[in-house]
Amino acid sequence: MPTMPMSFAELESRAAQAMPPTVLSYVAGGAGDEATQRANTDAFARWGLVPRMFVGATERDLSVELFGMRWPAPLFMAPVGVIGICEQGGHGDLATARASARTGVPMVASTLMADPLEEVAPELGDTPGLFQLYTPTDRDLAASLVGRAEAAGFAGIVVTLDTWLTGWRPRDLSTANFPQLRGLCLANYFSDPIFRSRLASSPEDDPQAAVSLWAQVFGNPLTWDDLPWLRSLTTLPLIVKGIQHPDDARRAIDGGVDGIYCSNHGGRQANGGLPALDCLADIVDAAGDTPVLFDSGVRSGAEVIKALALGAAAVGVGRPYAYGLALGGADGIVHVLRTILAEADLIMAVDGYPTRADLTRDTLREVR
Ligand SMILES: Cc1cc2nc3c(=O)[nH]c(=O)nc-3n(C[C@H](O)[C@H](O)[C@H](O)COP(=O)(O)O)c2cc1C
Repeated sequence: MPTMPMSFAELESRAAQAMPPTVLSYVAGGAGDEATQRANTDAFARWGLVPRMFVGATERDLSVELFGMRWPAPLFMAPVGVIGICEQGGHGDLATARASARTGVPMVASTLMADPLEEVAPELGDTPGLFQLYTPTDRDLAASLVGRAEAAGFAGIVVTLDTWLTGWRPRDLSTANFPQLRGLCLANYFSDPIFRSRLASSPEDDPQAAVSLWAQVFGNPLTWDDLPWLRSLTTLPLIVKGIQHPDDARRAIDGGVDGIYCSNHGGRQANGGLPALDCLADIVDAAGDTPVLFDSGVRSGAEVIKALALGAAAVGVGRPYAYGLALGGADGIVHVLRTILAEADLIMAVDGYPTRADLTRDTLREVR
């Protein structure tokens, strides 16, 4: 008998019992009354895949070529800035990297880590990892973080555009809950030579001053004028996260990015928006040959398949793997990823779409 849940609903409810209330509130919560967060998950039910028979899809190939890498499956772990404290021992970034190594499912590692990126990267083993940058206002610090990620072996840089400030999150506001302001998950800053050089005393001697500096430099309200500078920071593939308008996708591609990441941050940043899934097809059309990553609301293999059919090159999950980690450590993440992949694979078999290329937009119909 499996010890881990086989459905997302059970995973969510059992994780809720395992997580400390402050961590649960931060992970499960979203912006406003969370309507956009719910819409993200509900949006998938409006699409259905039409099965094909006499295909004999005894072997399926989910692999995808992305940014010069071969991923075994078009699935990845989206950056979760408090993944460090979702693990009971407080080293969730390391556990996530180990789960990535075991499954081949890439991890997009957040800037906000409980352990420095140099300690996380080796745990990825042979699986490529991406580093997600929250661009600080201090340009030297931004360059230092990117340079460290390159040196540590990350294979691409994901710049998140939708979180230069934190959205209106009533669950956390009502309990004055913001983990970073308690000094949590700031290891990449506290270990950074540029960040440390800006302080009178070290973060170890004066953590309050270090947190205060972090709060001042964290969010950079980037404009299009900053894109050439961002592009100049790295020769690695550059991917921009948070794109929901096709014009933004086109302009970012004109500015030299290598990938577009369509996401509304899991409904955590702005309430009152469209489900991210409803933006995907237009973004894919605008992006042309540039790959489009997608996340927000994905909970199952069936939903991965629908996002692929709408044109996503690869699909990310956020909260599901955080819940797996809270419940079962690295094994818990491996379980969550394998259940998603197993369901996706079985759907491709049963519905007669053996390869990624077979999953085109006209395999879907809107549910009436
Ligand atoms: C607790 C939590 C922390 C997050 N931290 C980050 C982060 O540090 N950087 C980032 O780009 N996105 C962050 N996100 C957003 C995720 O990368 C992703 O867009 C979102 O979780 C996808 O939606 P889902 O949770 O419905 O799968 C976070 C999401 C959650 C739930």
